[in-house]
Amino acid sequence: MSDQAKTPAPTPATKKLFIKTYGCQMNVYDSQRMAEAMGAEGYVLTEDQSDADMVLLNTCHIREKAAEKLYSDLGRLKPLKAEKPDLKIGVAGCVAQAEGEEIIRRMPLVDLVVGPQTYHRLPAMVRGEAPAIITDFPEEDKFDHLPQRRATRRAPAAFLTVQEGCDKFCAFCVVPYTRGAEVSRPVDRILREARDLVERGVREITLLGQNVNGWHGEGPSTQGQGGEWGFGRLIRALGEIEGLDRIRYTTSHPNDMADDLITAHRDVPQLMPYLHLPVQSGSDRILKAMNRKHTADQYLRLIDRIREARPDIMLTSDFIVGFPGESDQDHADTLRLIEQVNFGTAFSFKYSPRPGTPAYEKPEVDSAVADARLQELQALLSRQQKAAQIGMVGRSLGVLFEKPGREAGQMVGKSDYLHSVFVEAPDAQIGDLVQVRIVESAPNSLRGELIG
Ligand code: SAH
Ligand code: SF4
Ligand code: F3S
Repeated sequence: MSDQAKTPAPTPATKKLFIKTYGCQMNVYDSQRMAEAMGAEGYVLTEDQSDADMVLLNTCHIREKAAEKLYSDLGRLKPLKAEKPDLKIGVAGCVAQAEGEEIIRRMPLVDLVVGPQTYHRLPAMVRGEAPAIITDFPEEDKFDHLPQRRATRRAPAAFLTVQEGCDKFCAFCVVPYTRGAEVSRPVDRILREARDLVERGVREITLLGQNVNGWHGEGPSTQGQGGEWGFGRLIRALGEIEGLDRIRYTTSHPNDMADDLITAHRDVPQLMPYLHLPVQSGSDRILKAMNRKHTADQYLRLIDRIREARPDIMLTSDFIVGFPGESDQDHADTLRLIEQVNFGTAFSFKYSPRPGTPAYEKPEVDSAVADARLQELQALLSRQQKAAQIGMVGRSLGVLFEKPGREAGQMVGKSDYLHSVFVEAPDAQIGDLVQVRIVESAPNSLRGELIG
């Protein structure tokens, strides 16, 4: 080495990208992939919107309020764009898919509109080498055109999209229109991405899909593993990856809970005892009108079989109240189903009519009635949630540390059941998976003590 001072090579000018993500975990995953794709173009992420060279809003169309948020956020960007005319503003995600060029018509400050199946073309769009609006459903697989997920060390828990789109056409839902038809990613790509994540420090993977348990694929033709794989088989294969300690998946549909997946909950120790299985309603009449294609009783019997396979499993769900035609009796049926199942937690929403969906034209339930039902349902669910949390006290659970806690020497991570757990652990590192005894339940978290 020479002791002469060298002029450092000029670093390529980095540009700053600010991404705001709305909606579901699939959008969180997509935002990470878009950040990686733009990283290859010299963009680094910033947390400060006012400092950005590009602002990307990754949007959700599921309920009216979610879509309206985009337009109010775009309105707030006007002064920044006036101050920095070179600022690029992009809209991605499900509103981009649903509204396309209408977004630029309504908000001319938007430069780019890209749908959830075409964001691998974002770098070319930013360079001006592709159209400013791309919202088709291409033949090619976007994942084949995105940079490999190598290089940097990652947080200990990661998302991995394995399935996209939906063919179920529930009467209230925009997803089949915004995300397109059901597509499963091939086995080898999923296993490769999972191994890459593990090599970079990931210990927990949540498999994502709008109907994740509808995933299916062709097994590798080696070692007699070929043939059609269902989602349970995929989980078993992931369970063989050394260093992958926890597996989760979301969101699943009751009609796709195959036997092999149910028994995977018994057989695969890395598969966490937690299942989000949306039912939406407990009334057969409403389930039929929603086009869910199962009855309340079929759901209850499915839950019995899942609990037989994995008695300590925690169940969570989504509910919609005030779906067109919902009567007091229908609502009472939903409350009864909630009592029967006893959920660990659940998301509940007031029905929001979405243009283009079959339920859109149907007469709505009186808004005040729907509000009152939502309150009643949420009160019941939060009682169950509280009881589930208190039931954790005294139990010994795994916790994967994700960040330092509020106090010195404290770490916080997720339990097997996805509760946030605060633990006094001065010698621990982020990414440690420890056993703790739960000693206290606070409103939105638990406190645990290290065992051993
Ligand atoms: N694929 C998942 C759900 C995706 S959307 C499933 O089948 O369960 C997430 C949740 O948003 C849904 O479960 C539903 O409860 C809610 N949702 C969807 N469309 C809605 C609408 N139009 N109004 C209110 N809630 C809605
Ligand atoms: Fe929407 Fe139903 Fe598909 Fe879920 S299963 S994404 S609720 S259409
Ligand atoms: Fe929203 Fe699209 Fe997800 S509509 S919930 S971001 S699939």
